[in-house]
Amino acid sequence: MPIDFDDREETAEQEEERILARTLTSSDDNEGSLRPRFLTEYIGQEKLKDNLTIWIEAAKKRREPLDHVLLYGPPGLGKTTLAGVIANEMGVNIRITSGPAIEKAGDLAALLTNLDDMDILFVDEIHRLNRAVEEVLYPAMEDCALDIILGKGPAARSIRVDLRKFTLIGATTRAGQITAPLRDRFGMVTRLDLYTSEELTRIVARSAGILNVEIQPDGAAEIAARSRGTPRIANRILKRVRDYAQVRADGIITRTVADEALSRLDIDQIGLDAVDRRMLEAIIRNFGGGPVGLDTLAANIGEEAITIEDVYEPYLMQLGFLARTPRGRCLTERAYKHMGMLYSEQLTVDS
Ligand code: ADE
Repeated sequence: MPIDFDDREETAEQEEERILARTLTSSDDNEGSLRPRFLTEYIGQEKLKDNLTIWIEAAKKRREPLDHVLLYGPPGLGKTTLAGVIANEMGVNIRITSGPAIEKAGDLAALLTNLDDMDILFVDEIHRLNRAVEEVLYPAMEDCALDIILGKGPAARSIRVDLRKFTLIGATTRAGQITAPLRDRFGMVTRLDLYTSEELTRIVARSAGILNVEIQPDGAAEIAARSRGTPRIANRILKRVRDYAQVRADGIITRTVADEALSRLDIDQIGLDAVDRRMLEAIIRNFGGGPVGLDTLAANIGEEAITIEDVYEPYLMQLGFLARTPRGRCLTERAYKHMGMLYSEQLTVDS
């Protein structure tokens, strides 16, 4: 759809701040210094890294931008980090924005026309782009062009403006909500998986090195095992355990220090926090172990359905504690065991 340049009320600076919410190096991004910058520093997602290595090398050989990439998966797994890594590997700039920040078609047009040749535009939460904005992306992604309407009414005419070549990297926690025309315009659609404990242990050890904190291997393993397969959580926990080690121990993170600090944070042996446990308990006590519908469950425990789906369920499903069935959410025997409750099969079987 051609762009309709409507009147602006924001100043240019306010607008820039809103649309380009943050960059990979900004100091308010406290994950920044821990983020790997190149593929060789990036731990985990081995298959994806292998593929990216090939795609990047091929694009560089052809002196072309990388094809558009869609990254999806639960939050905290490193989609933004990976986009930064791709930019560094390609030797190009990255501009970071998000779906909700781009309110008008003209906002996106301004971003696209300001890109240098081969630059990367990273759009987080790309499933939240509005329809008018999304339609500007189609010719941009396909033909490196913008269609602009000049004038109004019968005198209106449309002109096509060429853009410099660029790569769009879209990220989403909800691949199912991406419209088919948008999804089809990505040359690569890839899923990021939860990390294994072993990978997270390496990530924690690496981060501790960067933060200058002494950590023993079983201290790193303890943090990893309790980080729900998510590097962002592992790094956040590491910082809190570091605080505890400095104040209540001799500054060294051992397994015991990590365990004490994590217990104080209400994070249990397998990484479940108070909300996870409240949810499991509610399904058992109020819904006989399930099936229970997502919205009913959300209302019952006072969390948003979308948060339950994106943040809590992926890890509970990976643990084999929870199943999504057509009739609703069901808990497994494993979940009952973890909660110290007796499992009664008849109540939870979904026939
Ligand atoms: N920090 C956060 N995510 C990371 C990863 N995948 N590899 C190394 N360090 C990280």
